[in-house]
Amino acid sequence: PALDLLVLDQVDSTNAEVIRRRGKVGALPLVCIADSQSAGRGRRGRVWQSPRGENLYISFGLGVKGGFAALDGLSLVFGVALADVLVASGIDDVQLKWPNDVYWQGRKLAGILIELQGEFQEGEVQIVAGMGMNVHMQNVDGIDQPWVSLAQIAPEQYWQRNELAAQLIASVMSAFDEFQSDGFEAFRDRWMARDLFAGELLEATQGDLKGLGRGLASDGSYLIELDDGDVRPVRAGEISLRKT
Ligand code: ATP
Ligand code: BTN
Repeated sequence: PALDLLVLDQVDSTNAEVIRRRGKVGALPLVCIADSQSAGRGRRGRVWQSPRGENLYISFGLGVKGGFAALDGLSLVFGVALADVLVASGIDDVQLKWPNDVYWQGRKLAGILIELQGEFQEGEVQIVAGMGMNVHMQNVDGIDQPWVSLAQIAPEQYWQRNELAAQLIASVMSAFDEFQSDGFEAFRDRWMARDLFAGELLEATQGDLKGLGRGLASDGSYLIELDDGDVRPVRAGEISLRKT
């Protein structure tokens, strides 16, 4: 599929760059890759550590049909697309943490950040989906949770960032096309097969919600089984979950 590709040495954030450059209805998808970010970002204003030359920082500017309701499943679709690339490279025990992160043996390997780029117009909403994947990173300050890189998982393998980027672009664009034509349903089982939270006791970092992880509802929200047996769906914008 046709797309515009922008490759940069250095940028504040590839998500921010796509937001500045794109945003027109009907424009080609814009993919931006940078070798380093000075202000890489995660959810809720958190920092994504982005040292030069070591990792992959890539963002996709896309027009999503079907309005805002369609967006909920989208970070899950991209998580599946990213996991597929890792599995194809021989890393099979990849897990997905709802809604947006990729883990390997309990350590964070990659993150996905979806931001709205424009209003809903002419039947589509412009979004940017950014992915950060740790490839060669060995030492870094400022990450307050366990993390891992591909070179640590499989040091014997020659990890080529260009090659990974090409595979990721192909995987994301094809998953996105499938999502646009068939919706989220086709991805639900693929996502659930890698659910980091399945059967785990979870708590919300905001509020006092606590219960067992029960996988995805059909719209991509996450199901929590409360003490009294009730099952409550939570939506991505609403909450962060972690294992207790
Ligand atoms: P949530 O469930 O809300 O997504 P989260 O802790 O995963 O929670 P995010 O905003 O998704 O938060 O990701 C940002 C966090 O990821 C940072 O606070 C930091 O702990 C971690 N982080 C930052 N840079 C990296 C990196 N290069 N590799 C792995 N983890 C990182
Ligand atoms: C998260 O786990 O919160 C998501 C992190 C997303 C990081 C990527 S790196 C490329 C793109 N540009 C950014 O500033 N953030 C995303």
